[in-house]
Amino acid sequence: MKSVLFVCLGNICRSPLAEGAFRAEAARLGLEVVVDSAGAGDWHAGEPPDARAQAVARRHGVDISGLRARQVRADDFRRFTHVIALDHGNLANLRKLAPADATAELSLLLDHVEGRAGQAVADPWFGDEAGFEVTWAEVAAAARALAKHFSRRG
Ligand code: 4NP
Repeated sequence: MKSVLFVCLGNICRSPLAEGAFRAEAARLGLEVVVDSAGAGDWHAGEPPDARAQAVARRHGVDISGLRARQVRADDFRRFTHVIALDHGNLANLRKLAPADATAELSLLLDHVEGRAGQAVADPWFGDEAGFEVTWAEVAAAARALAKHFSRRG
């Protein structure tokens, strides 16, 4: 079975939004897939997503209030088939952390969106509500593309 781990810096803004959007899309398509998210750091471990992230997800019909932040760990590179970074810093960090026997495929989230390959999902943490809407639009587009891709590959 396919399994996807989304990784950002704090695991309270972008990656929980990616997780929520992808869970919703997978459910809509009836895809069986394991989904989780994690952060490069442990500063917010155990915390729910940022209130602004919860709010933007809710505005789009997705409840992420039950998610809790955790730090990425070596085992994730064996447990998940896909580990997907939200930006280049996260991807570089994952490449450093990956153990020698890692089996997960690493990629950048927007690599999965036509015309956006190689681009980052900007950190909305220091921004305003509008920034979170941009984040949502990006993770939702990626969630749709990923889910479609997985459903084709079975
Ligand atoms: P995220 O946003 O990586 O999208 O979850 C951030 C959240 C918290 C911090 C940085 C980024 N922080 O420095 O605490």
